[in-house]
Amino acid sequence: MSLREVAAAGPLRGGVRQAGVVIALLLTGIGVARGQEPRYPQTTFEPVSAYGASQNAVFANTFWWTMGILALVIVLTLYAAWRFRERPDSPEPEHIHGNTVLEIAWTLIPAVIVVLIAIPTIRTIFENQRDAPADALRVEVVGHQWWWEFRYPEQGLVTANQLYLPVGRPIDLRLHSADVIHSFWIPRIGGKRDVNPQAKAHEGEQPSFNRISFTVDSAGFYPGQCAEYCGDSHAIMRMSVVAVAPAEFDGWVAAMRRGDAAGGAPQAAGAQPVAQVSQLTVPTPTGAAQAPPTQATPAQPAVAPAAGPGLDLGALPSPTGIGSAVRPPVSDAAWAEAGRRVFLSKTCTACHAIQGTTAVGAIGPNLTRVGARPDIGAGAVDNELENLVRWIRDPQSVKPGALMPGAQKPGGNFPPTGLSEAEIQAVARYLLSLR
Ligand code: CUA
Repeated sequence: MSLREVAAAGPLRGGVRQAGVVIALLLTGIGVARGQEPRYPQTTFEPVSAYGASQNAVFANTFWWTMGILALVIVLTLYAAWRFRERPDSPEPEHIHGNTVLEIAWTLIPAVIVVLIAIPTIRTIFENQRDAPADALRVEVVGHQWWWEFRYPEQGLVTANQLYLPVGRPIDLRLHSADVIHSFWIPRIGGKRDVNPQAKAHEGEQPSFNRISFTVDSAGFYPGQCAEYCGDSHAIMRMSVVAVAPAEFDGWVAAMRRGDAAGGAPQAAGAQPVAQVSQLTVPTPTGAAQAPPTQATPAQPAVAPAAGPGLDLGALPSPTGIGSAVRPPVSDAAWAEAGRRVFLSKTCTACHAIQGTTAVGAIGPNLTRVGARPDIGAGAVDNELENLVRWIRDPQSVKPGALMPGAQKPGGNFPPTGLSEAEIQAVARYLLSLR
């Protein structure tokens, strides 16, 4: 239909067409929401737990009551407008005052509807506040500016930003904040809950925390985010739940507890200390400052340098071979090994821990198997070499306000790490190798 035809059809037919388009769009939206894989991964209409489903039921109950009232009001309005419309010689309408039956009806009916909404709502509020059963998996959730810490006290492990959970087992989340108020929200699992700083507990008292108890019904990847404004990078405080079969969860726990087994191995075998700072002679690769490497992996073929604890970072060329006419590129493994030595000998360990190594810092995210995470900086960028290098070099350029120091710039209260370009490249490769 051309514009002229639309104009000729008059406003009513144009309006009908528009209404048709809106209805079609709504139906498409409903069709999408009912699909197996939601097009919107943060939809609340496809809950994967009874916890989320109960909240959805409260919403649906309220929604359909109000839709019914809306329909009734529209029908009565249209009827009255048509039935009592003005005609050429219609008389002055008769003034009436008070109709007992009507007044009782329009007081009672809304009151009954409010009760029908209130009863399931209050029941659900109490259900959702119930304590988890005794056999629930306990996870302590700690909100930080701007990332999430997940502690599994029974399993003795800590991770960040990605919450692994077994399907079918009750979960007992205990939430508190290390700084300001955050809000934990995984839309497909259920509603938000505030993550508050803990008040100082008196002697003999448990420090207070908020809880959520639920059971995830189906395996999947469920993204979520902080839902309470908490400062500069509130919008980059994402997290995700990875719900897996119980056996797979046990495998994950075992892998997390192993951590960087290779990092611990030399020490266990009684070999030389992993890091020998004094022996590190780190060159600044020519050209590195103006041209950070763009390749995801160094070019092959790899020349196997003296691998193992004795590896000297100074012997390594720049990862792409740029600026090194003499030395060809070396393998990722050699770089990762060098990166481990840098990581364990520099200030990285003041804030970060990696299971299986001597790094036990607890201020920043625990980096055990960080290479397996899909993103870095709590959802700031994909977990890829180039991004990781940029992150270590200058975190604030990736995430405004990030409290981690960069190589040259401070972060939060922390001085610059002073890592050279070669050290940054090596550490990034080491972290990516932790899977
Ligand atoms: Cu944490 Cu917003």
